[in-house]
Amino acid sequence: MSENNPRKIILDCDPGHDDALAIMLATASPELELLGLTTVAGNSLVENTTRNALIVLDMVNRADIPVHVGAVKPLLRELRTAASMHGDGGLDGPVPAAPSRPADDGSVLEFIEKTLTDAAEPITLVATGPLTNIAAVVTELPHLHHKIAELVFMGGAIELGNWTPAAEFNILVDPEAADIVMNSPIKKTMIGLEVTHEAWLDDSHANELRGTGQCGDFVAELLDHFVGFHQQRFEWPGAPIHDAVTIAHLIDPSLVTTIFTNVTVETQSELTLGRTVVDVYSVTDKSPNVHVGTHINRDQFVTLLMSRLASHS
Ligand code: BDR
Ligand code: CA
Repeated sequence: MSENNPRKIILDCDPGHDDALAIMLATASPELELLGLTTVAGNSLVENTTRNALIVLDMVNRADIPVHVGAVKPLLRELRTAASMHGDGGLDGPVPAAPSRPADDGSVLEFIEKTLTDAAEPITLVATGPLTNIAAVVTELPHLHHKIAELVFMGGAIELGNWTPAAEFNILVDPEAADIVMNSPIKKTMIGLEVTHEAWLDDSHANELRGTGQCGDFVAELLDHFVGFHQQRFEWPGAPIHDAVTIAHLIDPSLVTTIFTNVTVETQSELTLGRTVVDVYSVTDKSPNVHVGTHINRDQFVTLLMSRLASHS
């Protein structure tokens, strides 16, 4: 893919500070064409994640990009949100104006079905929230799997979890959906915590963007909250910008190192619910089903992200 023939993507998200930066990175990148956002309940209720998605698109002057409202809750379980990290509304920090428009009519499934059907070339799906909507695509649209080039999702971990000792938030919220997705024939790339914990920004990046314009101030205020939370909660120097790594990987595939191996999702155990069991050493006879990120070139990631964020006025 190139700037003349950008890769067409649909971003399924639950903004969320790092989802917001993923949207801003995608809309600043000529290598990608963002066909639409679909929203899901995760970091906050879906009405909040939808509102936040609309606000972020306003901020980057892209109110032309459709936004469709997705699942209000996980497939089988009650919703658990990440209010402690992102705030009750999902985007604590800035105090933005109300969105300029409501979300578009039509369900996420209808939007994705039509977009895939009409597409001349396969479309890439990106998921940065719980996989509830994507599981519905897998089960309801099997006749269109061949029109999905790939799914790149932020979620899971090879080793430690961030929401329980065993599980990462997006997979923990809807493990049954994640299980459906892992077992689907669609090509999948997992951007888990081993990668995203290397992909952090700190106060210096907020200060670099502050005062550079409406978007710069917005990002600085997002980072003030998000970096501050991670400094206090984990005593880390900065905040992992988890979700933006999915987009960065599509812009520059050399950034993230991957292995192709088997991933299964724990859906039964109370103790390890939502764990992604990654067969790093091929000790099972299970077939590889996921390209799993293991490492990112942080300097190149930060350079890419900061330069693209700065390009928004
Ligand atoms: C994931 O959880 C959410 O809080 C973030 O937006 C990200 O998608 C990281 O575990
Ligand atoms: Ca997210």
